[in-house]
Amino acid sequence: MPSLADLSEKALPVLEQFAGRMLAVAIRTSVWNSRVAAGKSVADCSAGDFIAAALPALRSYVKGNALANCQRELSLALEAGGEVIPAERFDARAAGAADERALTIVINGEADLVRVRRETRGLCSRLAYNPTDTVRCCTVVSELARNIVQYAFNGTIELREVSQPARGIGIVAMDSGPGIPNLEAILAGGYVSKTGMGRGLIGSRAILEQFEATTRVGEGTTVRGIFRAR
Ligand SMILES: Nc1ncnc2c1ncn2[C@@H]1O[C@H](COP(=O)(O)OP(=O)(O)OP(=O)(O)O)[C@@H](O)[C@H]1O
Ligand SMILES: [Mg+2]
Repeated sequence: MPSLADLSEKALPVLEQFAGRMLAVAIRTSVWNSRVAAGKSVADCSAGDFIAAALPALRSYVKGNALANCQRELSLALEAGGEVIPAERFDARAAGAADERALTIVINGEADLVRVRRETRGLCSRLAYNPTDTVRCCTVVSELARNIVQYAFNGTIELREVSQPARGIGIVAMDSGPGIPNLEAILAGGYVSKTGMGRGLIGSRAILEQFEATTRVGEGTTVRGIFRAR
C-alpha cells in the first residue's frame, strides 16, 4: 500500500487545479490531521481512504460540478477505481459497530458496477439470503450504482450489515454530482426519462425500507435505505 506522502504528492497537483495552491495545501494538511487524530497509519494509506479523508475539506472549498470533477480526477490520479474499503477504515465512527460488516465501494465508471454487484452478492450470501432476495438486493444496489455512473460519474456505495430494528443490509449511495432538480416529480411517478426507463429510483423505493433520497442541485445526491429479506 502507498504511504500518505506518496498519495499527497500525486493528489496535490489535482487539488491545486481545483482549489488553488493555498487551499490544496490546506486540504492535504486536513487529511494528515484527520488520519493522525483517528490513530491511523501514515506509512500505509489506501487511495480510497485518502479521498474519503479529503472529502470534508474538499466539500467546503470546491463546489458544484467542479467538486465532482475534482473527485473524479483525484480517483484517477490515485488509481482508486473499484477499490473496496472496509468501513472501519473508511469512517472512524463505524469503529464502534465492530460486529457489523460494512464496506464502501468507490465508483468511477462502468467497470466498477461489476465490483458492486460482486460485493453485494457476497454480502447476501454471508447473510444466507435466498436467490430471490439476493436478486432483489443486487437489483437495488446496481440501479443506484448505475445512476452514479450515468449521471454523477463517480461516488460511493456503502453496504452495511444492520441488526436493528431487524436484520438487513443498509445501503447508502452517495455522489457529488449535479443533483436531481426534479426529484419530487420522479418519486411521484410522473417522470418520463430520456436516458432510461425512469424506474431506478421508484423501483428502489418499492424494495427498500426507510428509503430516503436527498439532493442539492450542484452539490450531489444521497440515497439510502435498508434491504430486508422477505
Ligand atoms: N445520482 C444521480 N445524480 C443526478 N441525477 C440523477 C441521479 N440518479 C438519478 N438521476 C436523475 O433521475 C432520473 C431518474 O432516475 P432513475 O434511476 O429512476 O431512472 P433512469 O436512470 O432515468 O432510468 P432507469 O430506469 O434505466 O434507471 C434520471 O433520469 C436522472 O435524470
Ligand atoms: Mg437509473
